[in-house]
Amino acid sequence: MSNTFVIKGLEGERALHGSVAVTGAKNAALKAIAATVLFRDTVTLTNIPLINDTERMFELLKDMGAEVSNPKKGTYTVFIPQKFSSDLTPSIAKRMRASVVATGPVLARFGKVSFPHPGGCVIGARPLDLFVDGFEKMGAIVTMKEDRYFVEAKGGLKGAEFFLKNKSVTVTETFMMAGVLAKGTTVIKNAAMEPEIADLAAFLNTCGAKIVGVGTPTITIKGGKLLSGKGHTYKTMPDRIEAGSFLVLGALAARELHITNCNPAHLESPIEILRSAGVGIEVKKTEIIVRAPSRLMAVDIKTHEYPGFPTDLQAPMTVFLTQAEGESKVFETIFEGRLNYTEALASMGAQITMMDPHRALVRGKSSLRGRKLMSPDLRAGLAFVIAAIIAKGESVIHNVDTTIDRGYENIDSRLRAIGVDIKRAEIISENPIN
Ligand code: EPU
Repeated sequence: MSNTFVIKGLEGERALHGSVAVTGAKNAALKAIAATVLFRDTVTLTNIPLINDTERMFELLKDMGAEVSNPKKGTYTVFIPQKFSSDLTPSIAKRMRASVVATGPVLARFGKVSFPHPGGCVIGARPLDLFVDGFEKMGAIVTMKEDRYFVEAKGGLKGAEFFLKNKSVTVTETFMMAGVLAKGTTVIKNAAMEPEIADLAAFLNTCGAKIVGVGTPTITIKGGKLLSGKGHTYKTMPDRIEAGSFLVLGALAARELHITNCNPAHLESPIEILRSAGVGIEVKKTEIIVRAPSRLMAVDIKTHEYPGFPTDLQAPMTVFLTQAEGESKVFETIFEGRLNYTEALASMGAQITMMDPHRALVRGKSSLRGRKLMSPDLRAGLAFVIAAIIAKGESVIHNVDTTIDRGYENIDSRLRAIGVDIKRAEIISENPIN
């Protein structure tokens, strides 16, 4: 049994209108859930998006011994008792890349951790070398048995100074959390600067952590005692990738779309690029208003660590470029497997030439035709939804539950509310693609 979206395209009409509220950010919520291991008492997390990945992260902690309650929609309380497993349950952790961030707090608090090589989206090689390096620099011993890592820091983790040879979001978060309970000071150089990291650090600091430099390439953490959640509530920041995807959709197909509950300051790069392609965008404090113009101009994009253009918006943006007049270059600099979806887009009528695994050339404007599609990953999945919305005819997007539902809460009903003709169907199929 798998979930499928059936979408009737707008055939180029700018018919969408109304308002869509952005949910809490997946990539902030997942780290906040892992961070509960750093607390001696109960932590309250709010604005948690109801998506498969957050459910799975709670399931992982519960399986290890955490007490989790869900008093109301989007609000969870978590308590980590002294009797807590330091083994990340392989069957759960394997299914989600973000599970790896739990290794930092578990190792820092309990002196050991074991974990499998995590799964997640198939978007290219996703090595763990920086994690292993960091654990060793903090005084732990890392061994591997079959496909599981065993990390042990007898006598606890020691603060260390390290330079990340690649700017990595999850590595930065893992060692920022590990540093909170390590002895002495930890310095992470060439740290990632994504807003989700600042969101986590700000909460940890209100609960007793001593983290400075977040948002700059050098983060310094003074180690100390377990944190306390008493009197503090974590509120997940708005999902900038979801907001950016709605922005692209609005730029292609909306008479007027109000994207609310968002933080436009996190979207400066996509906003600038869309404006240079001719899109009219009005920015308010927590809202963006977008209208699709009659003509779009080609523009080049190059993904980059924050504050550059986010790799997680590259696929929706490529759909946008199929509608822009002229030749646009797409340069994916972070993950080499993140242009895999272009073949399916070409089957809809897009003119896309792959130059190499990191670069594609898009010629527009093409009229897209509805197709049966199989989403290769979460972000490309939503890009296919956007392509299907602007296409002519009907599209069927398969394996929604293992891709799109991992990261976007109730996306079908929210799209329906702004005028998209989208239905969810359950199908029994072994090979749904013709
Ligand atoms: N890298 C290494 N060694 C490591 C870890 C990473 O070389 O040990 C490299 C990667 O191969 C890649 C680069 O570092 O070339 C950056 O990867 P990063 O580690 O930053 O990616 P990530 O932390 O695994 C997070 C998000 C991704 C998002 C990227 C980039 C989470 C859970 N995931 O991944 O989000 O694309 O940062 O912004 O925060 C998504 O939400 O769909 C998603 C894939």
